[in-house]
Formats: sequence, C-alpha cells, structure tokens
Amino acid sequence: MEYSEKVMDHFENPRNVGVLEDANAVGEVGNPRCGDIMRISMKIDDETDVVEDIKFQTFGCGAAIAVSSVLTEMVKGRTTEEALEIDNQAVVEELGGLPNVKVHCSVLGEEGITAALKVYYDEHPEKTPPPNLADKVASLEACATHEHQEKM
Ligand code: FES
Repeated sequence: MEYSEKVMDHFENPRNVGVLEDANAVGEVGNPRCGDIMRISMKIDDETDVVEDIKFQTFGCGAAIAVSSVLTEMVKGRTTEEALEIDNQAVVEELGGLPNVKVHCSVLGEEGITAALKVYYDEHPEKTPPPNLADKVASLEACATHEHQEKM
C-alpha cells in the first residue's frame, strides 16, 4: 500500500497529540467497523469562536493518526464555522491522498470535530451555532446508529 510522504510524516511525527487541560470542547467518536477511536479536545475563544488550541488522541490505524494530526493543524486558528467546513475530502487532499481502502479513516476526523463542537454549543445555549453544525450533527448521529458503509 502506497502512502504519501506527508502521510508518513504525520504518522511518524504526529502533531498536537494529547489532551488539553483547559479544553472547553471535547468529543469522542469511533468507527464501529474497525473499533478505532478518536478523541478531540479544543480550547475555543468564547468571544471570537476561534479555535485557539486543539489536541487529539487516536487509538487506530496509521492513516487515522495522520488524519488526526493534519486536521489539528488545519483547524487551529480557524473559527468554529470554518473548522466545520473542513471535510474528509479536504483532509485527504491536504495529506496528498490516501489509498482508496483507507479513505474511510479520514471520516473519523471530521466526525471528531463535529462531536466536540456539538458539546461546545450544547454547553453555550446563549450562542448561535454555525449554520453548518446541524447537518454535520445529523450525519454524525446517522453514522452512530448505522454501520459505516465504507469498505475496510
Ligand atoms: S480508522 Fe479504523 S482502520 Fe483506519
């Protein structure tokens, strides 16, 4: 299986690994097919809704680790709305591609961000969530109740 140099770099030297002690948005998602799990913790500025810091813990395959790592770099410094615009396709492109059988691993990243931001807005009912949050949460909940269709 061929991995790009960037995938190998993020797999071997993952960025932003761990848990943020002062996180105010934490999400955990799993791929029911393979059992891999990703936890995302973010520190979001209450005034600007900018993601000031983000860390991940991924118990999973190398592709899932590379996805998590590059995703944290893509999300840091963005607003919550901009973070939600980063879909799995954008992550795969940023990594210089993934083998077809591994593309499903990239979905975990998008879902992790969505899960963490759902927690953030649930805990801040005074805030108006980004318009793209509801659709993402709906597809996340559909994923949780139905087996992923992607091939392993
Ligand atoms: S995320 Fe489970 S095999 Fe990649």
